[in-house]
Amino acid sequence: MQAIHLAKQYTTQQSQLAVLEDISFEIADGELVCLVGPSGCGKSTLLRLLAGLLLPERGEVRLHGQPLLAPSPEIGLVFQKANLMPWRTVFDNVILPLQIQHLSLAEATLRVNHALSMVGLSEFATSYPRELSGGMEQRVALARALVYDPQILLLDEPFGALDALTRERLNQELLRLWTATEPHKTIIMVTHDVNEAVLLADRVLVLSQRPARLAALIPIPLPRPRSSALFYDPQFGALANQVRQAIR
Ligand SMILES: Nc1ncnc2c1ncn2[C@@H]1O[C@H](COP(=O)(O)OP(=O)(O)O)[C@@H](O)[C@H]1O
Ligand SMILES: [Mg+2]
Repeated sequence: MQAIHLAKQYTTQQSQLAVLEDISFEIADGELVCLVGPSGCGKSTLLRLLAGLLLPERGEVRLHGQPLLAPSPEIGLVFQKANLMPWRTVFDNVILPLQIQHLSLAEATLRVNHALSMVGLSEFATSYPRELSGGMEQRVALARALVYDPQILLLDEPFGALDALTRERLNQELLRLWTATEPHKTIIMVTHDVNEAVLLADRVLVLSQRPARLAALIPIPLPRPRSSALFYDPQFGALANQVRQAIR
């Protein structure tokens, strides 16, 4: 996936707000990239452009070399809020996008069960959202993004509203899921947590203050598997500092 000279501004009745200015980068298939930057700099805007949910004023997003002009089933999305339908069970929430696509019930059921097993929620298929913890709700949202078996996952602070321990556990699950899936999915995840970014990523993409430019693209050459024990590793500390410097 490529971003080529992306520029985006929002036009409101009173004014124009330049959000992204001339952003270019290329992300390899199977790469895990974390996106960080100051609050309000345009991280979510960039993710929506990469998802084909928004179109840029200038430049383009390319997927397999072709301009991305609309959302694609090859791209799965998860936001900070799970946005589950409270009157539907876990199973029925995850099957929803497939029903909209008129997939046969047999095929859709297979896919939903597979997605639920990938996020460790097989036993909760018949539960309702109100019966789930916040972390489980986000896992349902992840399963809903996985039902198409998308090659690319875009995650916008997916665990940002959860407590630190739950976030740590879900990060580990995400790493396991990414490692266990062949070929690896391409993951681009927005986070405001520098340690989380360095722990997960192959590379950390740093945006500057708005109007955001690409401040740095920092490779994270730490060996895998990685656990939070790395937080005490000097190389980890040096990389996290490098990311913090780039954000300033
Ligand atoms: N739909 C919109 N219309 C107008 N302004 C917006 C819209 N969405 C976001 N913004 C503004 O654009 C800037 C970047 O927003 P966003 O991409 O959400 O930043 P981040 O995710 O880095 O916090 C912010 O100043 C925000 O207020
Ligand atoms: Mg955001």
